[in-house]
Amino acid sequence: MFGFGYHSFLNDHIKKNKCKRLLEIGVYDGENAKNMIEAAKESFPPKEIEYYGFDYFEDERLYWKVYKKLEETGCRFKLFQGDSKVTLPQHVEELPIMDLIFIDGGKSYETAKSDWENCRKLMGKHTVVFVHNYEFPGVKRMVDEIPREEYIVEIIHPSDDYATARIRKKL
Ligand SMILES: C[S@@+](CC[C@H](N)C(=O)[O-])C[C@H]1O[C@@H](n2cnc3c(N)ncnc32)[C@H](O)[C@@H]1O
Repeated sequence: MFGFGYHSFLNDHIKKNKCKRLLEIGVYDGENAKNMIEAAKESFPPKEIEYYGFDYFEDERLYWKVYKKLEETGCRFKLFQGDSKVTLPQHVEELPIMDLIFIDGGKSYETAKSDWENCRKLMGKHTVVFVHNYEFPGVKRMVDEIPREEYIVEIIHPSDDYATARIRKKL
């Protein structure tokens, strides 16, 4: 499905920059998680790769399907079940600085803003945050509000995907 499960811009970034700590908001069926982990496996043994996923996971069967899919990759992973507006602030302090963060959960301004405000606490000098679906009004408003004196914000338009914001800290 267009824009789901596989994002070449993420996999290219992971391979090129040797990313091994990955966080995704909006896991859905775990297909993109698996593909990102496979990309990281080009540079690291599975046990050195960490994946953190946040989703409602309202369907228990889907949760276990994703769990099994991630277990099969051999990487270390944690899944957080519930509204990311609640679960992310609850857990952010215990999470490490990430190499790559993919924000692809709720598309309302309120959710996108909350996800970004929490994720930015997990950014180091090298971290890149990708925010999917810049075309959604709530997502666009959140991205447009990010202070440009603190962050470098670029909008990328992959031919095989939706518009995405790519954000890193200004050094
Ligand atoms: C577009 S799908 C994610 C697709 C996946 N990242 C991929 O690339 O294939 C959006 C997911 O976000 C989840 N989601 C939406 N709002 C959320 C929220 N407030 N908290 C947690 N998960 C949320 C939905 O349950 C859904 O699985």
